[in-house]
Amino acid sequence: MFKIERFILPSEENADKWISFTRDTLVRGKGFLFVAKNGNKPIGFCTSSIFEMPLEASELMGSINDLYVLPEFRGRGIGRKLVAESLKKLKAQGVNTARLNVLKENRAAVKLYRKLGFKIYNYGMEKTLEEF
Ligand SMILES: CC(C)(COP(=O)(O)OP(=O)(O)OC[C@H]1O[C@@H](n2cnc3c(N)ncnc32)[C@H](O)[C@@H]1OP(=O)(O)O)[C@@H](O)C(=O)NCCC(=O)NCCS
Repeated sequence: MFKIERFILPSEENADKWISFTRDTLVRGKGFLFVAKNGNKPIGFCTSSIFEMPLEASELMGSINDLYVLPEFRGRGIGRKLVAESLKKLKAQGVNTARLNVLKENRAAVKLYRKLGFKIYNYGMEKTLEEF
């Protein structure tokens, strides 16, 4: 998350805030967490959630929020399985479409998501405003 939103400071405090925010969506039944384990040891996880909007919507949208696999367990299909299970869970909750954000340089993740059928639907653009 700190890399995707580079203006958010990678502080302990922010990490704690993010964890509380994620926990809150889980508690309210709007978020889901899948953990991959090797024995009892967690080796990867994926969080997802249902979009919560104040506006009326024609369909339920969901998102893949965080995905991580420990380096020594990568390349074995764990990341793909975590995302696939999260998508199944979202679908079971009535979600029609899932979205996610990924840095375009993150080739491993982009390839994984493409293999699962994700396509670009939007280009995020930015510009520094020094010259204005
Ligand atoms: C991205 C990440 C979760 C992938 O986890 P993983 O368990 O290694 O992925 P999988 O083994 O399930 O790979 C699934 C597919 O993704 C692609 N892929 C995964 N790692 C790749 C790599 N290093 N290079 C190229 N393609 C890769 C492959 O197409 C692979 O399918 P294939 O094995 O049939 O070729 C893992 O690298 C990670 O934790 N990275 C750091 C955190 C991160 O970037 N998270 C995503 C944020 S949006």
